[in-house]
Amino acid sequence: MTLPSTIKLDNMRNMVTHFPQLLSSIELDSNLTKICKEYEEEGIVGICFIGMGGSSIAGSYTKAILQSSSEIPMMVVKDYVLPKCVGRNWIVIAVSYSGNTEETLSALDNATASGARRILITSGGEMSERKNETIIQLPGGLQPRAALPLILSAVLPVTEKLLNLVTTDLQTISSFLVKSSDEWGKWIELPIEIIKSISNSIPLFMGAEHLIPVAYRAKCQINENSKSVAFYSELPEANHNEIEGFANKYRTSVLPILLRSTQYHPRIAKRFDVTKSVYENMGLRTIEIFAKGDSAIQEMLSLTHYLDSVSVELADINGTDSLMVEKISELKKRL
Ligand code: PA5
Repeated sequence: MTLPSTIKLDNMRNMVTHFPQLLSSIELDSNLTKICKEYEEEGIVGICFIGMGGSSIAGSYTKAILQSSSEIPMMVVKDYVLPKCVGRNWIVIAVSYSGNTEETLSALDNATASGARRILITSGGEMSERKNETIIQLPGGLQPRAALPLILSAVLPVTEKLLNLVTTDLQTISSFLVKSSDEWGKWIELPIEIIKSISNSIPLFMGAEHLIPVAYRAKCQINENSKSVAFYSELPEANHNEIEGFANKYRTSVLPILLRSTQYHPRIAKRFDVTKSVYENMGLRTIEIFAKGDSAIQEMLSLTHYLDSVSVELADINGTDSLMVEKISELKKRL
């Protein structure tokens, strides 16, 4: 398993450009497929994804993509300790791109102690040295957040096999992503254009259903790549609290960016319309972004690819290096 030969590991813009290729660069080996089948036949009562930051996103995306087909619960844990219910007959899928993230290693120890079966996904570090584990070894050298498509190309098919579901054809999704990014400027403003409306505001990415993790990912990419403040929220919940929070004079610094889907429940679609109108009546500017695709996964990934690019454009405008995450590194060192 190797990275595309054209990828430049010292250039975030280049890594983001390779998003579609990274999505199709992993083939699960037959041994792993066999292990998943055995687990599935033995009986699984739940799947728990563990990981932090860039390594947690693939679990959230997989849960959002599969939860309408899965008959067992899936949960995402971003913490040191697993809930007590995660035990025998659970599968824990642990992801750490570096393999050294202490919260993930701690939660993994918890999983081992509780008797849960484990699948580890990493490019190296302490995680890759664990004995008696099933490990999917990823190629190293990427920034963890840029590795999302690569990580997803392992987490999604593994989960589909564990759940005995039809495996998504990631090659087709990858081709779709190439085509949809070639058409930026048609179905959606070019990243360099939309950034003009965003750069002097605090973006608040608002999603619902399968676009909730996409809104969260966008916030994280603006934080980590562009070194800017950003937030995310979800509908319908934001209609029950956040909507009251724009009464003071600072409200106009916030720019709600509504992530819209043709697949939303009709009442959710209506809520987006009304929320936009209420916010605009309060003097807020809003932006709507309509996802492209015929399925949840197509919508999620085409929007993610686009918003990742937006974060790189914003990094350029801010004159910041999107590769560096000095504060995260400092904090990890000081801990
Ligand atoms: O994107 C990043 O660099 C971070 O969010 C990391 O993903 C996070 O700190 C966890 O590290 P790792 O992905 O190596 O487990």
